[in-house]
Amino acid sequence: MGNNIKIYLENVSKVFGPDALNALALIDKGMTKTELLEKKGHVLGLHGINLEIETGKTTVIMGLSGSGKSTLIRHLNRLIEPTSGRILVDGEDILNLNALELRQFRRKKISMVFQKFALLPHKTVLENVIYGLLIDKVPPHAAKERGMAQVELVGLSGFENNFPGQLSGGMQQRVGLARALATDAEILLMDEAFSALDPLIRHDMQMQLREIQARLHKTIVFITHDLDEALLLGDKIAILKDGILRQVDTGMNILKNPADDYVGRFVRDVNRARILTCGPLAQPGTPTGDTRLNAEQTLESAFPIMAAAQGPIGVLANDGALLGVVTARQIMEALIQQDRAKSTLVGSDI
Ligand SMILES: Nc1ncnc2c1ncn2[C@@H]1O[C@H](COP(=O)(O)OP(=O)(O)OP(=O)(O)O)[C@@H](O)[C@H]1O
Ligand SMILES: [Mg+2]
Repeated sequence: MGNNIKIYLENVSKVFGPDALNALALIDKGMTKTELLEKKGHVLGLHGINLEIETGKTTVIMGLSGSGKSTLIRHLNRLIEPTSGRILVDGEDILNLNALELRQFRRKKISMVFQKFALLPHKTVLENVIYGLLIDKVPPHAAKERGMAQVELVGLSGFENNFPGQLSGGMQQRVGLARALATDAEILLMDEAFSALDPLIRHDMQMQLREIQARLHKTIVFITHDLDEALLLGDKIAILKDGILRQVDTGMNILKNPADDYVGRFVRDVNRARILTCGPLAQPGTPTGDTRLNAEQTLESAFPIMAAAQGPIGVLANDGALLGVVTARQIMEALIQQDRAKSTLVGSDI
């Protein structure tokens, strides 16, 4: 295990039910999730998950409802314990933590942002943000200072003395984010943290999270149903189906080389570039390597070229002049924006 790996799930399986171990043995022998439910009344949550979560990166978990996303993320702070397998955080098996150690682990190392904001209604924004710190016996003055910094970070300066009920949903969500950030935890777990927000506010939050992440480099595990969101935020995307990991890779590679038909269908709608060309995206900079794109080339045709490149690629005008450079990320985002404009990407069948 490389030391750039923050969290490592080793062959993690979870069955819900009174006789989980025997039920898991049946799954290991080839029984399906549906059969297990029908014949044994047990629910398969996860099966044989091996997943490396990189330090300082955002790993997105995607999958249909019931595929095991929340089950997976809840294993990471031991809200759920596996039926078998190990979960290592910084190389340490969290199943070995005693009650006190676990409490400290949850307070200091890992914090969770929920979909429902879970704010205390009778406490102000700032009080909500620093609540955990005070419980943790951080002196009030220091807690306030730290809290204010987080309030500012999520763009809520001036609202620190308001009550949650006086804020919009998006603002409440940001309070939840500030609270998670205030703990200084190195790991942030976000289970559909933005799903309750309307699209504009949601995009705002996504951008804000990216900005924060560029500064703080937390290890973030982010669950979403939304492929746009996954591509925008995820350094890696993990796709779950029926408790099994089907593919873990960069968004780019998943779009380009889906591991199987299921993943292919899952992402199909996003992989279409239509109108935009490379020219408008060119920005000042020095190209890496000799590969060049043409200004009139579509993003779709630039896609495989750019995916193979190591850094910014030069964009040439028709007369051969260097217009500037584009990065993989820029093209990716342009594709996403384009699809965003064409409304929903993920069909109801996935
Ligand atoms: N406490 C539990 N007891 C029994 N079954 C459970 C429990 N928690 C989850 N499950 C089952 O485990 C499977 C995975 O559930 P999970 O909540 O992880 O799905 P999810 O991918 O997060 O779905 P959603 O997108 O709807 O939130 C489902 O079949 C679910 O019914
Ligand atoms: Mg869930």
